[in-house]
This record gives sequence, structure tokens and C-alpha cells, in this order.
Amino acid sequence: MNTVSISRRRFAQLLGAGAAAAVAKPAFSFAAEPIAQPATTSVVRLSSNENPYGPSSKALKAMSDAFDLSCRYPDEHVDELIQALAKLNGVNRDQILLGDGSGEILKLCAETFTGSTRGKLVAADPTFEAILNHARVNGAEVVKVPLNRSFGHDLPKMMAAAKEGLIYICNPNNPTASITPRNEVGEFIAKAPSQTMVLVDEAYYHYADSPDYESVIPLIKDHPNLIVARTFSKIYGMAGLRCGYCVAQREMIERMRPHQPWDSVNIMALAAAIASLNDPDQVANGKRLNTEAKTFVTSELDAMGYKQIPSQANFIMVDVKRPVAPLIQALKQRNVQVGRLFPALPNHMRVTIGKKTEMESFLSAFRQIAA
Ligand SMILES: Cc1ncc(COP(=O)(O)O)c(C=O)c1O
Repeated sequence: MNTVSISRRRFAQLLGAGAAAAVAKPAFSFAAEPIAQPATTSVVRLSSNENPYGPSSKALKAMSDAFDLSCRYPDEHVDELIQALAKLNGVNRDQILLGDGSGEILKLCAETFTGSTRGKLVAADPTFEAILNHARVNGAEVVKVPLNRSFGHDLPKMMAAAKEGLIYICNPNNPTASITPRNEVGEFIAKAPSQTMVLVDEAYYHYADSPDYESVIPLIKDHPNLIVARTFSKIYGMAGLRCGYCVAQREMIERMRPHQPWDSVNIMALAAAIASLNDPDQVANGKRLNTEAKTFVTSELDAMGYKQIPSQANFIMVDVKRPVAPLIQALKQRNVQVGRLFPALPNHMRVTIGKKTEMESFLSAFRQIAA
């Protein structure tokens, strides 16, 4: 089932009849109306590394409770979420900056730390491209350093390429789902010149279970040039709501803040994020279900002779042994959407881990086109 189509119905089911009726005031009557089926209902969407299980039921309830507050600016909710995130990450409140998705955090970093006068952006190739585009728009030089043979960041080369400006480390990396080992990242941060900003994007942090992986948030206290980005879009299933944040020392947050519009995170996303953090099952269930479906699809692909880059995320990068672009199109014609072409890895297909039934649909279509 398409994740896009479930949300409204599931919302009403989860709330129960009473709460759903409360939601069904004239301005918010969707729970009581017949629901139009999107044209794409039959599409299996494995293209955007979304969480197919959706937000926590606690988050859905919190959003329904927040409807009446939609006419208010979200100051109190901002304070509450910042407080919760500071506690979660063992930092002070002034070390957290919220964003309209972590995408906004990446943009703020590019605007604050890169540009023709501020310095270049150094990033891996391939990696999550958003920040590269922001840096370019900002007039910055962008240096791409190929991943190493283990699909980790080539940190010595990235260090050599950087002087001032910003180094972007995506760990686990999108699109390869690979990690850069914690000792390498730690050493790199220890050695990075103080005038070089290091942004570590931990969007997929919760999915990584390798003993070689760890968050670098604990290093922030000793490194004024380190910023760590996190998101509610992945394990918390809130991609459509838009909420992310970063952790850094207070001085860095204060440099970034003037680049941000006021109130960029909406009250629904804030309410959902606060409630999600209070749901201990959300992370545990999300990890477990992802691992189960990933184990299923990777063992099937192994049996078919298609290797993958070992995945530490909610997606896999499959070596399809031929140019991937026609295969992406052929899958699309069979209503299966997978990731776009990543030019640095033209024979690899990025496939998001959906529900097991979605992975079955993917495998069945893939068998047809790759035979
Ligand atoms: C590595 C990485 N960082 C950041 C983002 C942006 O996420 P958000 O939805 O929080 O803006 C994504 C989205 O897929 C991502 O893959």
C-alpha cells in the first residue's frame, strides 16, 4: 500500500471515533469525508528513504490535539522540543537549533560557512547532494572527493582539500548506506583546523548498528567547529511534517541563527516531534522492522547474484551489473519507484527498505526486468 494514501485513514482509525469526530470540525473535516484515492495508490514507493510505518500513534494524537493551536505562533512548542532534545543529547538548550527538516539545517550551514569569501564546501562523491547545491548558489567552490574503496569518506583527502569553509560528512552516507568508521571520524575531527567547520549529517543514525559506528555528538563539547544534523524524517516517520535540528556549541548556533526565518518549524511538526520522543517504541520498532525487511530483500538479492554495499541505513545500494538508468525506468513502468541515478555509481540502484510486502513487489518486478 502506498504510504501517502494511508495517513489520513490511519489517522482517523488511530484516534478512534470520538477523537476523529472532534477533529472533523468544518475546517478540518477530512476524517469524516470520503477520501479521494491518489492516482498513485498502486505505486510502490522505494525512492526517498522514507519510513513506511509512519509516525508514532502518540505523534498523531499530539497533532490532533494541536489543531486548535494552529492560530498561534509555536514559541512554547519550540521551547519544549528544544528542552527535550537538549536532554536527549546531553547538551544545553542553547546548543540546539531546530530546522524545517534537517534540509533547512544543511542550507543554513552552507549559507553561514561557505561562499566566495567564506570558503568552499568539501563533500564526498556520491553523497546527499542538497548541501552542494546550496553552497553553489552561495557562490562557493564545491570540491567532491570520491568515497574510498570501502565506500567510507576519504577523510585524509577531504582534509587536504579543505582550508576554510565547510566539510560535509554524511554518516551513514546517502546514497551508499555505508558508514565511515568512528575511529576515523574521531581522528579527523580532532585534527581538523579550527577555522574549518565540520558538519556531520546523522540523518540515518538510528538505523546503524555496526560496532564501528557511533554518533559524534559527544565530541561537540571539545570542538567548536563541529555541527551534527539530525532529522525526524527517518526513524520518526515524519518526512512530510518537516522537522530536524542540529547540535553544536552555542557560538556556532548563534552564527547560524540570523540566516534562518523566524518560526520556520510549524506547530504540528513540533507537537509530533515532542510526542515521538516520548514514545520509546517508535525507534525500537522502526529499527526492528527495517532490519527484518532488509534481511529479507538482501538475502533474496544475494541468491539472485546481486551484491549490495553493506547497508547501515533504511535503504540499500544494489550492484545491478549494468547501467542502472534503464532499469529504473523499467521498474517505474511496473509501478515500482526506486532511487534516481547517482552518476558516480552508474551501475548501482538505490532501493529504500519498505514493508516486506513492498519488497516482495520490488523483487517480483526486478526479477522480470533483470532476468
Ligand atoms: C543524508 C540526508 N540528510 C538530510 C536529509 C533531509 O532530510 P529532512 O527531511 O530532514 O530535510 C536527507 C533526506 O533524505 C538525507 O538523506
